[in-house]
Amino acid sequence: MVLQARIAGPSRRGGLAALVVAIVAVAFAAAPAAADPIVLRFSHVVAPDTPKGKGAEKFKELAEAATGGRVRIEIHPNSELYKDKEELEALQLGAVEMLAPSLAKFAPLGLPEFEIFDLPFAFPSPKALDRVTEGPIGRTLLARLKDRGIVGLAFWDNGFKLMSADRPLRRPEDFRGLRMRIQASRVLEAQMRALGAVPQAIDFADARRALETGLVDGTENTPSNMATQKMDEVQRYATLSDHGYLGYAVIVNQKVWEALPADLRAALERAMREATVYADGIARAENEAALAAMIAAGHTTFLRLTPEERAAWVAALEPVRAEMASRLGPALIAELRRAAAE
Ligand code: LMR
Repeated sequence: MVLQARIAGPSRRGGLAALVVAIVAVAFAAAPAAADPIVLRFSHVVAPDTPKGKGAEKFKELAEAATGGRVRIEIHPNSELYKDKEELEALQLGAVEMLAPSLAKFAPLGLPEFEIFDLPFAFPSPKALDRVTEGPIGRTLLARLKDRGIVGLAFWDNGFKLMSADRPLRRPEDFRGLRMRIQASRVLEAQMRALGAVPQAIDFADARRALETGLVDGTENTPSNMATQKMDEVQRYATLSDHGYLGYAVIVNQKVWEALPADLRAALERAMREATVYADGIARAENEAALAAMIAAGHTTFLRLTPEERAAWVAALEPVRAEMASRLGPALIAELRRAAAE
């Protein structure tokens, strides 16, 4: 306005100048202004103070810096937008742009093979796990998301799970008849049945309440998820069994991703690589700190298995692999066994 008032005048030259100013003004209005960034909504179901929550925050920080503010990452934690069942649908419909669901939750996309990560005692070490996520199995799984309208950007670790209940769980017999909350994964269902428990798939957002009201007797999760949901206040015992893994795939709506200018996509990919190193790097310490805090709070008694007790769990859970072979694909299970054992 100020510029226009100064240049525009009654003369012919002034008229021309006004026209130039008007054209420039239109061009500025059409160009995406710095104040109008592309917003990517990143929805997830856990607390901000968890490995995934902190990974998301780190990605936001790195992505916004790397794109010079042209992309804004809007994080929605704690299922404030969508619960487990709804979030994948929301991603496909474009109601959110990014998610990081646990690998146990991909079957509704017609991809039950992601549940190989739920197989009990499948990963003898964190290194074995990296070989799987960073190797051909991980790459193949992420590539399969493509024809679901989704791009897989990375795997993020949380860690290994404990089992909790209102009674001590030392031997497989101790699970008999217990109603155990699980994520909606057939492999986890088979795992709980193999222990004689009754599995109940419940959204993460409702899990704590289900424990509190007695809808279920127990559950499994990582210490960081247990502590941030204050599940220790409603569980008297927990066994540090490390029987199963909890990890995530960070995913994005394909149409949105491919519509981004190439330079922004490259910057976001770089930010994701760095955020992944960060998220994986803090997961172990975050879980150790969460466990220490719960031990100090004293609501739950934490148990460690003796080698004999652990062997009994391994034996009780061994049949799950064969039982799930047709669901996961025998070739994939064999490949997993090889990669994990290398
Ligand atoms: C659960 O449902 O227990 C977990 O998948 C939650 C999460 O995202 O870590």
